[in-house]
Amino acid sequence: MNPPFSCSPIAIRLVIRIVLMTGILATLCGAMRAQAQPSTQTNLKVLVGGQHRPDIFRELLKDYEAANPGIKVTLESGGATSELLQRYLNTVLTARDTSLDAFLIDVVRPAQYAAAKWAEPIDPYLGNEREAFLSRYLPQYRTANTIDGKTISLPAFSDAMYLYYRKDLLEKIGEQPPATWPELARIAKRVMAQEKDPNLQGLSFQAKAIEGTVCTFLLPYWSMGGEVVKDGKLQFDRQKAEAGLAMWRQMVSDGVSKANVSEVGTDDTRKEFQAGRVVFGVLWGYGWNLFQSGADSRVKGKVGVVKLPAMPGGESVSCMGGWSWAVSAFSRNKAETVKLVRWLSSPEVAKQLAIRGSMQPVFADVFTDPQVLRVNPWLADALPVVETARPRPVTPMYRPISDALRLNTNAVMADARKPDAALGEIEHRIKRALR
Ligand code: GLC
Repeated sequence: MNPPFSCSPIAIRLVIRIVLMTGILATLCGAMRAQAQPSTQTNLKVLVGGQHRPDIFRELLKDYEAANPGIKVTLESGGATSELLQRYLNTVLTARDTSLDAFLIDVVRPAQYAAAKWAEPIDPYLGNEREAFLSRYLPQYRTANTIDGKTISLPAFSDAMYLYYRKDLLEKIGEQPPATWPELARIAKRVMAQEKDPNLQGLSFQAKAIEGTVCTFLLPYWSMGGEVVKDGKLQFDRQKAEAGLAMWRQMVSDGVSKANVSEVGTDDTRKEFQAGRVVFGVLWGYGWNLFQSGADSRVKGKVGVVKLPAMPGGESVSCMGGWSWAVSAFSRNKAETVKLVRWLSSPEVAKQLAIRGSMQPVFADVFTDPQVLRVNPWLADALPVVETARPRPVTPMYRPISDALRLNTNAVMADARKPDAALGEIEHRIKRALR
Protein backbone atom coordinates (compact mmCIF):
# COMPACT_ATOMS: atom_id res chain seq x y z
CA MET A 1 0.00 0.00 0.00
CA ASN A 2 1.15 3.46 -0.78
CA PRO A 3 1.50 5.84 2.16
CA PRO A 4 -1.17 8.61 2.13
CA PHE A 5 1.45 11.18 0.91
CA SER A 6 4.08 10.01 -1.41
CA CYS A 7 7.47 11.59 -0.62
CA SER A 8 9.25 11.07 -3.88
CA PRO A 9 12.63 12.92 -4.14
CA ILE A 10 11.12 15.18 -6.84
CA ALA A 11 8.30 16.26 -4.57
CA ILE A 12 10.74 16.95 -1.74
CA ARG A 13 12.95 19.11 -3.99
CA LEU A 14 9.90 21.01 -5.15
CA VAL A 15 8.84 21.76 -1.60
CA ILE A 16 12.34 22.91 -0.68
CA ARG A 17 12.45 25.19 -3.71
CA ILE A 18 9.05 26.74 -2.80
CA VAL A 19 10.18 27.33 0.77
CA LEU A 20 13.41 28.95 -0.44
CA MET A 21 11.59 31.13 -2.98
CA THR A 22 9.11 32.30 -0.35
CA GLY A 23 12.02 33.24 1.91
CA ILE A 24 13.74 35.18 -0.85
CA LEU A 25 10.47 36.90 -1.77
CA ALA A 26 9.83 37.81 1.85
CA THR A 27 13.33 39.27 2.18
CA LEU A 28 12.89 41.22 -1.05
CA CYS A 29 9.53 42.58 0.04
CA GLY A 30 11.01 43.56 3.40
CA ALA A 31 13.85 45.37 1.69
CA MET A 32 11.46 47.15 -0.65
CA ARG A 33 9.27 48.18 2.25
CA ALA A 34 12.29 49.52 4.11
CA GLN A 35 13.26 51.50 1.04
CA ALA A 36 9.76 52.83 0.60
CA GLN A 37 9.65 54.09 4.22
CA PRO A 38 11.78 57.24 3.86
CA SER A 39 9.95 58.42 0.75
CA THR A 40 6.62 58.29 2.60
CA GLN A 41 8.09 60.56 5.30
CA THR A 42 9.24 64.04 4.34
CA ASN A 43 11.56 65.77 6.77
CA LEU A 44 11.49 69.55 6.75
CA LYS A 45 13.67 71.91 8.74
CA VAL A 46 12.62 75.45 9.61
CA LEU A 47 14.45 78.23 11.43
CA VAL A 48 13.16 80.98 13.72
CA GLY A 49 15.09 83.53 15.77
CA GLY A 50 15.74 83.12 19.47
CA GLN A 51 13.35 86.00 20.21
CA HIS A 52 10.53 84.49 18.17
CA ARG A 53 9.16 82.31 20.92
CA PRO A 54 10.39 78.93 19.57
CA ASP A 55 8.33 77.34 22.39
CA ILE A 56 5.13 78.50 20.68
CA PHE A 57 6.24 77.52 17.18
CA ARG A 58 7.24 74.06 18.42
CA GLU A 59 3.72 73.48 19.77
CA LEU A 60 2.11 74.74 16.56
CA LEU A 61 4.29 72.50 14.41
CA LYS A 62 3.13 69.48 16.40
CA ASP A 63 -0.41 70.32 15.25
CA TYR A 64 0.81 70.50 11.67
CA GLU A 65 2.51 67.11 11.91
CA ALA A 66 -0.63 65.56 13.39
CA ALA A 67 -2.75 66.92 10.54
CA ASN A 68 -0.18 65.93 7.90
CA PRO A 69 1.00 62.36 8.48
CA GLY A 70 4.23 61.73 6.66
CA ILE A 71 5.60 65.23 7.37
CA LYS A 72 8.13 65.69 10.11
CA VAL A 73 9.21 69.25 10.88
CA THR A 74 12.34 70.04 12.85
CA LEU A 75 12.48 73.49 14.38
CA GLU A 76 15.82 75.18 14.80
CA SER A 77 16.18 78.43 16.67
CA GLY A 78 19.11 80.80 16.55
CA GLY A 79 20.17 84.41 16.40
CA ALA A 80 18.65 86.38 19.25
CA THR A 81 18.52 89.58 17.19
CA SER A 82 17.58 90.37 13.63
CA GLU A 83 21.16 90.91 12.46
CA LEU A 84 22.55 87.83 14.27
CA LEU A 85 19.90 85.66 12.66
CA GLN A 86 20.72 87.26 9.31
CA ARG A 87 24.42 86.65 9.78
CA TYR A 88 23.72 82.96 10.32
CA LEU A 89 21.44 82.78 7.28
CA ASN A 90 24.08 84.56 5.16
CA THR A 91 26.47 81.70 5.91
CA VAL A 92 23.93 78.93 5.34
CA LEU A 93 22.57 80.38 2.11
CA THR A 94 25.90 81.44 0.65
CA ALA A 95 26.92 77.79 1.07
CA ARG A 96 23.69 76.78 -0.78
CA ASP A 97 22.92 74.47 2.14
CA THR A 98 20.02 72.17 1.27
CA SER A 99 19.25 71.09 4.82
CA LEU A 100 17.21 74.17 5.73
CA ASP A 101 13.80 74.44 4.04
CA ALA A 102 12.20 77.60 5.43
CA PHE A 103 13.11 80.48 7.71
CA LEU A 104 11.74 83.69 9.16
CA ILE A 105 13.12 86.87 7.65
CA ASP A 106 12.76 90.40 8.98
CA VAL A 107 10.34 92.64 7.05
CA VAL A 108 13.32 94.75 5.93
CA ARG A 109 14.98 91.90 4.03
CA PRO A 110 12.86 90.57 1.13
CA ALA A 111 14.59 92.90 -1.39
CA GLN A 112 17.97 91.54 -0.35
CA TYR A 113 16.71 87.93 -0.61
CA ALA A 114 15.23 88.58 -4.02
CA ALA A 115 18.49 90.08 -5.30
CA ALA A 116 20.55 87.18 -3.89
CA LYS A 117 18.00 84.62 -5.20
CA TRP A 118 17.93 82.96 -1.78
CA ALA A 119 14.15 82.67 -1.58
CA GLU A 120 11.94 80.57 -3.82
CA PRO A 121 9.19 82.87 -5.20
CA ILE A 122 5.86 81.58 -3.92
CA ASP A 123 3.59 82.70 -6.81
CA PRO A 124 3.91 79.66 -9.11
CA TYR A 125 2.76 77.44 -6.24
CA LEU A 126 -0.37 79.51 -5.69
CA GLY A 127 -1.70 79.12 -9.23
CA ASN A 128 -5.18 80.56 -9.73
CA GLU A 129 -5.54 81.17 -6.02
CA ARG A 130 -2.74 83.75 -5.99
CA GLU A 131 -4.80 86.92 -5.93
CA ALA A 132 -7.39 85.69 -3.46
CA PHE A 133 -4.70 84.25 -1.22
CA LEU A 134 -2.45 87.31 -1.12
CA SER A 135 -5.24 89.88 -0.86
CA ARG A 136 -6.05 88.66 2.66
CA TYR A 137 -2.89 90.17 4.12
CA LEU A 138 -2.66 93.77 5.36
CA PRO A 139 -1.69 95.71 2.21
CA GLN A 140 1.61 97.07 3.55
CA TYR A 141 2.75 93.55 4.43
CA ARG A 142 1.81 92.24 1.05
CA THR A 143 3.78 95.11 -0.50
CA ALA A 144 6.79 94.54 1.75
CA ASN A 145 7.02 90.91 0.66
CA THR A 146 6.57 91.56 -3.05
CA ILE A 147 9.68 92.52 -4.99
CA ASP A 148 9.45 93.23 -8.72
CA GLY A 149 6.05 91.55 -8.80
CA LYS A 150 7.27 88.36 -7.10
CA THR A 151 6.13 87.10 -3.72
CA ILE A 152 9.43 86.49 -1.97
CA SER A 153 7.99 85.51 1.40
CA LEU A 154 4.66 85.21 3.21
CA PRO A 155 3.88 87.50 6.15
CA ALA A 156 3.96 85.66 9.48
CA PHE A 157 3.28 88.48 11.92
CA SER A 158 3.23 92.26 11.84
CA ASP A 159 4.98 94.49 14.33
CA ALA A 160 5.39 98.09 15.38
CA MET A 161 7.05 99.97 18.22
CA TYR A 162 4.89 101.21 21.07
CA LEU A 163 5.26 103.05 24.31
CA TYR A 164 4.74 100.65 27.20
CA TYR A 165 4.17 102.40 30.50
CA ARG A 166 3.55 101.63 34.12
CA LYS A 167 -0.14 102.38 34.53
CA ASP A 168 0.05 102.00 38.31
CA LEU A 169 2.88 104.54 38.71
CA LEU A 170 1.27 107.14 36.44
CA GLU A 171 -2.10 106.76 38.13
CA LYS A 172 -0.47 107.33 41.52
CA ILE A 173 0.54 110.86 40.48
CA GLY A 174 -2.51 111.53 38.30
CA GLU A 175 -0.67 111.65 34.96
CA GLN A 176 -1.80 110.48 31.53
CA PRO A 177 0.62 108.82 29.10
CA PRO A 178 2.64 111.49 27.25
CA ALA A 179 2.03 112.73 23.70
CA THR A 180 5.53 114.17 23.17
CA TRP A 181 9.04 113.13 24.18
CA PRO A 182 9.69 116.19 26.41
CA GLU A 183 6.40 115.45 28.18
CA LEU A 184 7.57 111.88 28.71
CA ALA A 185 10.78 113.20 30.31
CA ARG A 186 8.78 115.46 32.61
CA ILE A 187 6.47 112.65 33.77
CA ALA A 188 9.32 110.17 34.13
CA LYS A 189 11.18 112.60 36.40
CA ARG A 190 8.08 113.07 38.54
CA VAL A 191 7.59 109.32 38.94
CA MET A 192 11.26 108.82 39.77
CA ALA A 193 11.15 111.59 42.39
CA GLN A 194 8.01 110.08 43.90
CA GLU A 195 9.23 106.46 43.98
CA LYS A 196 12.78 107.24 45.22
CA ASP A 197 13.90 103.87 43.89
CA PRO A 198 17.51 104.09 42.65
CA ASN A 199 16.86 101.10 40.37
CA LEU A 200 13.90 102.70 38.64
CA GLN A 201 14.72 104.11 35.21
CA GLY A 202 12.51 106.65 33.44
CA LEU A 203 12.79 105.41 29.85
CA SER A 204 14.37 102.34 28.30
CA PHE A 205 15.07 102.42 24.57
CA GLN A 206 17.59 100.69 22.31
CA ALA A 207 20.89 102.23 21.24
CA LYS A 208 23.03 99.09 20.98
CA ALA A 209 24.45 98.56 17.49
CA ILE A 210 21.48 96.37 16.52
CA GLU A 211 18.86 96.57 13.76
CA GLY A 212 16.33 98.03 16.22
CA THR A 213 18.56 101.08 16.64
CA VAL A 214 17.83 102.01 13.03
CA CYS A 215 14.29 102.60 14.29
CA THR A 216 15.60 104.53 17.31
CA PHE A 217 17.27 106.92 14.88
CA LEU A 218 14.25 107.12 12.58
CA LEU A 219 11.43 107.61 15.12
CA PRO A 220 12.07 111.28 16.00
CA TYR A 221 13.41 112.00 12.51
CA TRP A 222 10.27 110.68 10.83
CA SER A 223 8.14 112.39 13.47
CA MET A 224 9.46 115.72 12.13
CA GLY A 225 8.77 114.71 8.51
CA GLY A 226 12.28 113.48 7.63
CA GLU A 227 12.88 110.98 4.81
CA VAL A 228 15.92 108.83 4.06
CA VAL A 229 15.54 107.40 0.57
CA LYS A 230 13.22 108.86 -2.03
CA ASP A 231 13.08 107.58 -5.61
CA GLY A 232 16.24 105.59 -5.00
CA LYS A 233 18.20 108.66 -3.84
CA LEU A 234 19.33 109.82 -0.43
CA GLN A 235 17.17 112.57 0.97
CA PHE A 236 18.73 113.55 4.23
CA ASP A 237 17.72 116.41 6.48
CA ARG A 238 20.71 117.08 8.73
CA GLN A 239 18.83 119.45 11.02
CA LYS A 240 16.04 117.01 11.73
CA ALA A 241 18.48 114.15 12.21
CA GLU A 242 20.47 116.27 14.66
CA ALA A 243 17.34 117.25 16.61
CA GLY A 244 16.36 113.58 16.87
CA LEU A 245 19.72 112.51 18.24
CA ALA A 246 19.74 115.51 20.60
CA MET A 247 16.38 114.39 22.01
CA TRP A 248 17.72 110.91 22.83
CA ARG A 249 20.92 112.37 24.28
CA GLN A 250 18.92 114.65 26.50
CA MET A 251 17.07 111.65 27.92
CA VAL A 252 20.45 110.44 29.16
CA SER A 253 21.81 113.81 30.33
CA ASP A 254 18.55 114.43 32.24
CA GLY A 255 18.93 111.09 34.01
CA VAL A 256 15.69 109.74 32.49
CA SER A 257 17.54 106.97 30.61
CA LYS A 258 20.62 105.20 31.84
CA ALA A 259 24.10 106.30 30.87
CA ASN A 260 24.92 102.96 29.25
CA VAL A 261 21.97 103.03 26.84
CA SER A 262 24.42 102.25 24.02
CA GLU A 263 24.53 98.73 25.47
CA VAL A 264 20.77 98.29 25.56
CA GLY A 265 19.25 95.91 22.98
CA THR A 266 15.62 95.02 22.33
CA ASP A 267 15.38 92.20 24.81
CA ASP A 268 17.22 94.22 27.47
CA THR A 269 14.38 96.74 27.43
CA ARG A 270 11.92 93.84 27.68
CA LYS A 271 13.76 92.31 30.64
CA GLU A 272 14.21 95.60 32.54
CA PHE A 273 10.57 96.49 32.07
CA GLN A 274 9.44 93.00 33.08
CA ALA A 275 11.55 93.24 36.24
CA GLY A 276 9.69 96.44 37.22
CA ARG A 277 12.73 98.68 36.76
CA VAL A 278 11.36 100.97 34.05
CA VAL A 279 8.57 103.59 33.90
CA PHE A 280 8.41 103.88 30.07
CA GLY A 281 9.72 101.44 27.50
CA VAL A 282 9.95 101.72 23.70
CA LEU A 283 9.35 98.19 22.50
CA TRP A 284 7.77 95.88 19.92
CA GLY A 285 4.57 93.88 20.38
CA TYR A 286 6.05 90.69 21.85
CA GLY A 287 6.67 92.41 25.20
CA TRP A 288 3.01 92.41 26.22
CA ASN A 289 2.63 88.64 26.54
CA LEU A 290 5.78 88.28 28.62
CA PHE A 291 4.82 91.20 30.89
CA GLN A 292 1.43 89.61 31.55
CA SER A 293 2.36 85.92 31.62
CA GLY A 294 6.12 85.67 32.17
CA ALA A 295 6.63 83.54 35.29
CA ASP A 296 8.96 86.13 36.82
CA SER A 297 7.05 89.23 35.69
CA ARG A 298 6.79 91.97 38.34
CA VAL A 299 4.45 94.07 36.21
CA LYS A 300 1.44 91.81 35.62
CA GLY A 301 -1.71 93.93 35.35
CA LYS A 302 0.29 97.16 35.69
CA VAL A 303 1.10 97.83 32.06
CA GLY A 304 -0.44 100.19 29.52
CA VAL A 305 0.42 100.42 25.81
CA VAL A 306 -0.02 103.56 23.70
CA LYS A 307 1.32 104.93 20.46
CA LEU A 308 4.75 106.51 20.63
CA PRO A 309 5.23 110.14 21.65
CA ALA A 310 5.95 112.67 18.89
CA MET A 311 8.59 115.38 18.64
CA PRO A 312 7.07 118.75 19.65
CA GLY A 313 5.05 120.00 16.67
CA GLY A 314 5.52 116.67 14.89
CA GLU A 315 3.37 113.57 14.60
CA SER A 316 3.50 110.21 16.31
CA VAL A 317 5.12 107.68 13.98
CA SER A 318 6.05 104.07 14.56
CA CYS A 319 8.58 101.88 12.83
CA MET A 320 7.09 99.08 10.76
CA GLY A 321 8.39 95.71 11.88
CA GLY A 322 7.39 92.12 11.38
CA TRP A 323 8.62 88.82 10.03
CA SER A 324 7.86 86.62 7.05
CA TRP A 325 8.34 83.01 6.04
CA ALA A 326 10.70 82.43 3.13
CA VAL A 327 11.22 79.10 1.38
CA SER A 328 14.87 78.38 0.75
CA ALA A 329 15.86 78.39 -2.92
CA PHE A 330 18.06 75.41 -2.03
CA SER A 331 15.36 73.28 -0.35
CA ARG A 332 14.90 69.81 -1.83
CA ASN A 333 11.22 69.80 -0.82
CA LYS A 334 9.94 73.09 -2.13
CA ALA A 335 6.33 72.09 -2.77
CA GLU A 336 5.89 70.58 0.72
CA THR A 337 7.68 73.57 2.25
CA VAL A 338 5.41 76.06 0.48
CA LYS A 339 2.45 74.09 1.82
CA LEU A 340 3.89 74.37 5.33
CA VAL A 341 4.64 78.11 5.14
CA ARG A 342 1.18 78.78 3.72
CA TRP A 343 -0.16 77.24 6.89
CA LEU A 344 2.35 79.07 9.09
CA SER A 345 1.20 82.37 7.60
CA SER A 346 -2.51 81.56 7.75
CA PRO A 347 -5.16 83.39 9.83
CA GLU A 348 -5.46 80.26 12.00
CA VAL A 349 -1.78 80.40 13.02
CA ALA A 350 -1.78 84.22 13.21
CA LYS A 351 -4.54 83.97 15.80
CA GLN A 352 -2.54 81.49 17.88
CA LEU A 353 0.61 83.60 17.68
CA ALA A 354 -1.37 86.60 18.91
CA ILE A 355 -3.01 84.68 21.75
CA ARG A 356 0.04 82.77 22.91
CA GLY A 357 2.77 85.34 22.26
CA SER A 358 1.19 88.76 21.51
CA MET A 359 2.68 88.63 18.04
CA GLN A 360 0.57 90.96 15.95
CA PRO A 361 -1.56 89.59 13.14
CA VAL A 362 -1.14 90.30 9.44
CA PHE A 363 -4.92 90.03 8.91
CA ALA A 364 -7.20 92.93 9.86
CA ASP A 365 -9.96 90.66 11.20
CA VAL A 366 -7.63 88.75 13.56
CA PHE A 367 -6.98 92.08 15.33
CA THR A 368 -10.65 92.19 16.31
CA ASP A 369 -11.09 88.49 17.12
CA PRO A 370 -12.71 88.30 20.59
CA GLN A 371 -10.35 85.56 21.81
CA VAL A 372 -7.35 87.57 20.66
CA LEU A 373 -8.65 90.73 22.32
CA ARG A 374 -9.41 88.98 25.58
CA VAL A 375 -5.71 88.36 26.22
CA ASN A 376 -4.48 91.39 24.26
CA PRO A 377 -6.87 94.27 25.01
CA TRP A 378 -4.17 96.68 23.76
CA LEU A 379 -4.56 95.29 20.24
CA ALA A 380 -7.92 97.09 20.00
CA ASP A 381 -5.96 100.31 19.32
CA ALA A 382 -2.96 98.75 17.61
CA LEU A 383 -4.23 98.30 14.05
CA PRO A 384 -4.03 102.04 13.15
CA VAL A 385 -0.49 102.13 14.58
CA VAL A 386 0.54 99.17 12.42
CA GLU A 387 -1.23 100.62 9.40
CA THR A 388 0.55 103.96 9.69
CA ALA A 389 3.95 102.62 10.77
CA ARG A 390 6.69 103.69 8.36
CA PRO A 391 8.83 101.13 6.54
CA ARG A 392 12.59 101.39 6.74
CA PRO A 393 14.12 102.04 3.28
CA VAL A 394 13.14 99.29 0.83
CA THR A 395 16.17 98.47 -1.33
CA PRO A 396 18.52 95.54 -1.95
CA MET A 397 21.16 97.89 -0.48
CA TYR A 398 19.38 97.99 2.86
CA ARG A 399 22.28 96.37 4.67
CA PRO A 400 24.82 99.22 4.28
CA ILE A 401 22.04 101.73 5.02
CA SER A 402 21.18 99.88 8.20
CA ASP A 403 24.86 99.70 9.16
CA ALA A 404 25.31 103.45 8.62
CA LEU A 405 22.29 104.35 10.77
CA ARG A 406 22.65 101.88 13.62
CA LEU A 407 26.44 102.06 14.03
CA ASN A 408 26.48 105.86 14.04
CA THR A 409 23.50 106.20 16.37
CA ASN A 410 25.20 103.74 18.71
CA ALA A 411 28.49 105.68 18.55
CA VAL A 412 26.75 108.97 19.38
CA MET A 413 24.89 107.45 22.32
CA ALA A 414 28.14 105.89 23.56
CA ASP A 415 29.75 109.34 23.35
CA ALA A 416 32.31 107.86 21.00
CA ARG A 417 31.41 110.16 18.09
CA LYS A 418 30.13 113.71 17.89
CA PRO A 419 26.65 113.97 16.29
CA ASP A 420 28.04 116.13 13.51
CA ALA A 421 30.67 113.59 12.52
CA ALA A 422 28.12 110.74 12.80
CA LEU A 423 25.65 112.51 10.53
CA GLY A 424 28.37 113.22 7.97
CA GLU A 425 29.29 109.54 8.02
CA ILE A 426 25.63 108.48 7.62
CA GLU A 427 25.25 110.74 4.62
CA HIS A 428 28.46 109.57 3.03
CA ARG A 429 27.81 105.83 3.53
CA ILE A 430 24.22 105.91 2.30
CA LYS A 431 25.15 107.96 -0.76
CA ARG A 432 27.86 105.44 -1.59
CA ALA A 433 25.45 102.50 -1.08
CA LEU A 434 22.87 104.00 -3.43
CA ARG A 435 25.31 105.01 -6.18
C1 GLC B 1 11.42 93.36 15.77
C2 GLC B 1 10.74 93.76 14.48
C3 GLC B 1 11.72 93.74 13.34
C4 GLC B 1 12.88 94.63 13.70
C5 GLC B 1 13.55 94.13 14.96
C6 GLC B 1 14.67 95.07 15.36
O1 GLC B 1 11.74 92.01 15.73
O2 GLC B 1 9.66 92.93 14.20
O3 GLC B 1 11.13 94.17 12.15
O4 GLC B 1 13.82 94.76 12.67
O5 GLC B 1 12.61 94.06 16.00
O6 GLC B 1 15.27 94.71 16.54
